Amino acid sequence: MALDNIRLEVMKLLEKKVDSFVDQFLIPVDKIWQPTDFLPDSQNEDTFFDEVKELRELAKELPYDFWVVLVGDTITEEALPTYESWLMDVEGVDQHENGKDNGWAKWVRYWTGEENRHGDVLNKYLYLSGRVDMIEVERTTQHLINDGFDIGTDRDPYKNFVYTSFQELATYISHNRVAKMARKYGNKPLSKMCKIIAGDEMRHHNAYSEFVRNIFEVDPSQMMIAFSDMMKKKIIMPAYFLRESGQAMGSAFEEFSWAAQRIGVYTSQDYVDIMQRLIDRWEIDKIIDLTDEAEKARDFLMKLPARMQRIGERLVIPEDIFEFKWVQPAIVK
Ligand SMILES: [Fe+2]
Ligand SMILES: [Fe+2]
Repeated sequence: MALDNIRLEVMKLLEKKVDSFVDQFLIPVDKIWQPTDFLPDSQNEDTFFDEVKELRELAKELPYDFWVVLVGDTITEEALPTYESWLMDVEGVDQHENGKDNGWAKWVRYWTGEENRHGDVLNKYLYLSGRVDMIEVERTTQHLINDGFDIGTDRDPYKNFVYTSFQELATYISHNRVAKMARKYGNKPLSKMCKIIAGDEMRHHNAYSEFVRNIFEVDPSQMMIAFSDMMKKKIIMPAYFLRESGQAMGSAFEEFSWAAQRIGVYTSQDYVDIMQRLIDRWEIDKIIDLTDEAEKARDFLMKLPARMQRIGERLVIPEDIFEFKWVQPAIVK
């Protein structure tokens, strides 16, 4: 489907502000945390082995579903090449404009630079913890990148920014809950690591929400329709195609998602809450000058959280733990 020129115009208009978005929502390389800040210092012969030993001892306290969720979260972060290449292809994001990339391409690269640290730190933690089968984790990661994803946004910047606004908040919630849970089990270092990742996700969420807010100001009807279209077909998680080695594409996602619901890291209630937060943040009820079609989209959106809430309440979460190849039950009970 060809996108109308207005979207391109709007993206060009907003592109002028990208440098200020980068300044406002991202942190320069020299100031931001790096994975090494949260991991044993491998150059220090005197402390390294003791630190690793302590990390491994603390890891023994954490239960099975916790590891499954942490692995799934890590793999989702590690599939970053998929998201970067997807966003680079969005209408209005141009890597090769007049011999250099435009502001949006810069945004995507800088955002990727920050995100890349998440998979990096989590992967190293999992490796050192000794609690997970890394070869299986690595195979799943490679599968997920190979399989790509289709999040139903097409190349539409409006839909993509709704998706990222939603998704960054969802990752904020899940990393933050993992942090709380780690703390509950006495694992302060892991808790700090996940908390700082959550902080990044919140900044990113604020950035993408700000892009959408800006678009609402100049193209309210189309933005409203894009928002409602995305909510109508539900936000698909980036790990939707998750699989274990030797299994069919997507076959691991449902059980991963049940594990996250069982331990309360990311639930159907969170989905409803995020939707409501976006509706409130963009003040959907107050937007004026809408076409008839956009008014209908607004009506749909305003009623949706309550509807989804009723559906969510009927959901029965399976109690039994599902055994993944990533986490050996003989090692983690
Ligand atoms: Fe992330
Ligand atoms: Fe993120």
